[in-house]
Amino acid sequence: MNTGTLAGPALTPATIVAFLADIFARRGGEEYLGEPVTMSEHMLQAAQCAEHAGQPAAVVVAALLHDIGHFTSEFGTYAPDDTEDRHHEDAGGDLLAPLFPPRVVDCVRHHVAAKRYLCAIRPEYFNKLSPASVHTLSLQGGPMSPDEVAAFERNPYLRDIVKVRVYDEAGKHADLATPPFAYYATMVQRVVDAYCGRPAQRAG
Ligand SMILES: [Fe+2]
Repeated sequence: MNTGTLAGPALTPATIVAFLADIFARRGGEEYLGEPVTMSEHMLQAAQCAEHAGQPAAVVVAALLHDIGHFTSEFGTYAPDDTEDRHHEDAGGDLLAPLFPPRVVDCVRHHVAAKRYLCAIRPEYFNKLSPASVHTLSLQGGPMSPDEVAAFERNPYLRDIVKVRVYDEAGKHADLATPPFAYYATMVQRVVDAYCGRPAQRAG
C-alpha cells in the first residue's frame, strides 16, 4: 500500500500539522460511512470525547486522527456498497508512523481490530454498533477468534486502543458541536515534537 502519494515524499514535524489541517479543511465534509456526521465531525467528536474523559494528549490525538487513513488509502474512501475492506487503518498507521509515537500509531492502526476484539470479549458491545459499523465488521472478518484475542491482548497499548475505539463509536452524533481542527493543532504539534525530539517552538 502506498500512502506516500497524497502525503508527498517529505512530511516532516514542521509540515505534518498543516498537511492534516488541509485534509480536514478540504475533505472533512465528506460523508462518514453512512453515519449522520461528516468525516471531520466524526473525528472531532471522537477527539472531544477523549478530551472530556481527561485522556492524555496521545489518546486525544489518536482519536482525532483515527480515520485519517480514509484520505490516504490508494483505494480511496469507503462506500456503503463496498464488498471488501479497504484497510484504512493501515493507511492511517503508515502515514503517522514516521512522526507520531507508537502509542498513537497503534491506536490508529488497530482501531478496526479493536471492534473485532470487543465484539469477541463483550457480546453486548455488538448491540451498540451502528448499522454501518455492523456492515463493516463483516467485511473486516467478524469477531476475533480466541487466538486472535490472545494475540491482540499482548499489545502494550491495549487499553488506549480500546478507548479510542469507544470514542470512535461515540463520535457519530448529528449536530454535536465541537471545536475545529485548529483547536487541536497545538496539541498535535506537541505530540509530534515530543516524539521527534524537536523543541515545541511552533505553538499556535
Ligand atoms: Fe471512526
